[in-house]
Amino acid sequence: MYRSHNCGELRESHINEVVTLSGWVQKTRDKGFVVWIDLRDRYGITQLIFDEERTSHELLERARSLGREFVIQVKGKVIERTSKNSKIPTGNIEVLVAELNVLNSSKTPPFTIEDQTDGGEELRMKYRYLDIRRNPVKNNLIFRSKVTMEVRNYLSQQGFIEVETPYLIKSTPEGARDFVVPSRMNEGQFYALPQSPQTFKQLLMIGGMDKYFQIVKCFRDEDLRADRQPEFTQIDCEMAFVEQENILNAFEGLTRHLLKEIKGIETATFPRMTYDEAMAKYGNDKPDIRFGMEFGELNHVAQNKGFNVFNAAELVVGIAVPGAATYTRKEIDALVDWVRRPQIGAKGMVYVKCNEDGTFKSSVDKFYDQEDLANWAKATGAKAGDLICVLSGDANQTRGQLSALRMEMAERLGLRKSDEFAPLWIVDFPLLELDEETGRYHAMHHPFTSPKPGQLELLETDPGAVRANAYDLVLNGNEIGGGSIRIHDKETQSTMFKHLGFTPEEAKAQFGFLMDAFQYGAPPHGGIAFGLDRLVAILGGQETIRDFIAFPKNNSGRDVMIDAPAPIDEEQLKELNLKLDIPS
Ligand code: AMO
Repeated sequence: MYRSHNCGELRESHINEVVTLSGWVQKTRDKGFVVWIDLRDRYGITQLIFDEERTSHELLERARSLGREFVIQVKGKVIERTSKNSKIPTGNIEVLVAELNVLNSSKTPPFTIEDQTDGGEELRMKYRYLDIRRNPVKNNLIFRSKVTMEVRNYLSQQGFIEVETPYLIKSTPEGARDFVVPSRMNEGQFYALPQSPQTFKQLLMIGGMDKYFQIVKCFRDEDLRADRQPEFTQIDCEMAFVEQENILNAFEGLTRHLLKEIKGIETATFPRMTYDEAMAKYGNDKPDIRFGMEFGELNHVAQNKGFNVFNAAELVVGIAVPGAATYTRKEIDALVDWVRRPQIGAKGMVYVKCNEDGTFKSSVDKFYDQEDLANWAKATGAKAGDLICVLSGDANQTRGQLSALRMEMAERLGLRKSDEFAPLWIVDFPLLELDEETGRYHAMHHPFTSPKPGQLELLETDPGAVRANAYDLVLNGNEIGGGSIRIHDKETQSTMFKHLGFTPEEAKAQFGFLMDAFQYGAPPHGGIAFGLDRLVAILGGQETIRDFIAFPKNNSGRDVMIDAPAPIDEEQLKELNLKLDIPS
């Protein structure tokens, strides 16, 4: 028996019991006549004591020789500590060791395995198995497991059935590039790893498997960010005979359940906002509504006053940053530099200080009098003590820039509180999105999303105006889920493909299976998929999903621990009928 108890278990009630523990040597403190060792396992830390009076000299010497991260087994008596440690649950006791068995030695780890480590991210990724021994990573993984379990419990209780769908499929265009897998048995042909099980879950509805869910890996070859990984996990769901309202209610239920069970928070009915409203108010389709700073459009009060920059702009828009009127010239200049960084791309920023005495001081006092500026304050909701920041230019770009500034200011002012949760549904998304570069429309959600009733005809005349039965769930400024009511008849789906630039032959070759299936009694259906990694990270009060994935990829999509991706050898290439032609 390796252990009678784990390292987080022993309390004063165990005093005088003889116990066996196994674990890793976290730390040794050697006072000469006495040696203490912190023994760690998944459950906690227990202090071991070896001393000259009560343990043999030989045992003391052996304890002294143990290095960090050695794996040991000890047997000894639980005794009361003379100097207690209230910071850990086992802090009142220690184990007076009588027997020591080294189960494995360890090289000195490349970074300290403690909550505050000295290891940089890349190094910790290379030795991820050591990083996982640290509490912050370990606790995130345990947290993830708890959330996943709650999701399964809740959905099962609601009558959802978990069905697995294949990983080796044909590519479905969902915005990102596919990862492809060559087929050995089918020369010159490739599988694609699913970007999501979208078409399969629709086929399951046609197969009568109403209320499907799956906690499933998805693969997308896209540029990485803090909230994106090339392989990530979805809570993928689909229901038959539903309208948008049914889906929103069902998954608001799931989210509310998670907030209650995981965070102990009761939430009211989630607010809903149309896409257009979100863009106008926050310049963003995933607004963080934990704080205000809503956009105030200023065209009507800022144009035609002789200031050419504003006169020439499609949109003049501002936000009131609370309490920032005290910013110094230097601080404001730094802010102007911030919005002019290439990542943000604004040309400049106009500001108005709303002084405590009710007067205004702006960077454009030459053009605007106090009454004008009072109108700006009204439009942005600015109060005495606030700083109004104004950007102008092309409407879409300016909204994006001001949205970035709004988030940055909220971050600086500590308004993005990680223990506060503000869920929000965004509804009525546009069906199509214009790709500025190619001048072509593509599906904003995916090609299987249905237009709002009666809007199909608009596709011919004003495609950009068509609204979809599509919705996103936003939590604290992050898109944690998205879905839609689907098209379920062949005609509409063909029309949709036509508008997305598919020839009938292309549509048949890629999605013939789905359109065929629609002809055999496809029920009305719809669904949603949550990003599990994002959901877990946000519930955990963070936004970097890497920290909640056991073995994540780095920013270049590499697993630096196993060193993947990697070349394959000639033999394998030959077997797969692949020839590489990479210029050296
Ligand atoms: P969508 O593409 O919106 O919808 O994806 C659903 C959710 O998955 C998460 N997500 C990601 N998380 C981490 N890394 C990524 N690279 C990544 N990409 C997406 C997001 C997102 O909201 N089939 C549809 C769903 C449906 O219509 O039912 C789909 O995949 O949180």
